[in-house]
Amino acid sequence: MAEQITREDALTREGYRHACHIMLYGDSSAKLFGKIPIKHIVLMQMRFDGLLGFPGGLVNPSKESLEAGLSRELHEEVGVAVPVGVDNHVSSCLSPSSPRLITHFYIRKMTESELKEIERAAVAAATDHGLEVLGMIRVPLYFLKNGGGLPYFLSHSFISNSRAQLLSALQHCRLLSQGELEKAVRQAEQMRR
Ligand code: GTP
Ligand code: MN
Ligand code: MN
Ligand code: MN
Ligand code: MN
Ligand code: MN
Repeated sequence: MAEQITREDALTREGYRHACHIMLYGDSSAKLFGKIPIKHIVLMQMRFDGLLGFPGGLVNPSKESLEAGLSRELHEEVGVAVPVGVDNHVSSCLSPSSPRLITHFYIRKMTESELKEIERAAVAAATDHGLEVLGMIRVPLYFLKNGGGLPYFLSHSFISNSRAQLLSALQHCRLLSQGELEKAVRQAEQMRR
């Protein structure tokens, strides 16, 4: 588990780079195959390097606030400068994969129509579409036979600690029960062998 620090402590450290990423999510009443409730929409992206991650990017806090920088990255990557505030911040970590990098994580709840608008803008308006961002994707939160759904999703490869960020956000927002999360992680673990 990556070492957590406070947002304030992070900003006093010298010689660190900062990256801010966000989970945009919301409720949905849609049903897969007309019968399996998808329950929530959670957005992630396929990155240029083939890894899954959240939208966001590097921010230089001497030039812009963490939250303004995250909105700028959202404009580049999903085509909408979604407003982000300090109240959307959930954690800051010393990155386990890159030395001298602090990763800040945010969560913002939106309506289903706002999320659908972001999915359209990510293709139609985002300057990074097809370049740094290969596409926005939704996280399957349900369980199908033989590990289909969330377990298979978790068996993919993720950038830095974004997989842990996803799991803790699903717990934090209570999008899945503790038992469901443990089941998904256990089944994903069996697939990797
Ligand atoms: P450029 O515009 O090309 O500079 O990229 P960017 O500013 O969009 O940066 P990027 O999103 O790649 O994030 C910068 C660094 O943060 C990456 O090299 C990863 O180490 C890390 N990172 C990227 N995505 C995530 C994520 O979803 N979660 C976490 N924890 N770290 C991430
Ligand atoms: Mn079909
Ligand atoms: Mn970017
Ligand atoms: Mn990015
Ligand atoms: Mn950038
Ligand atoms: Mn860029």
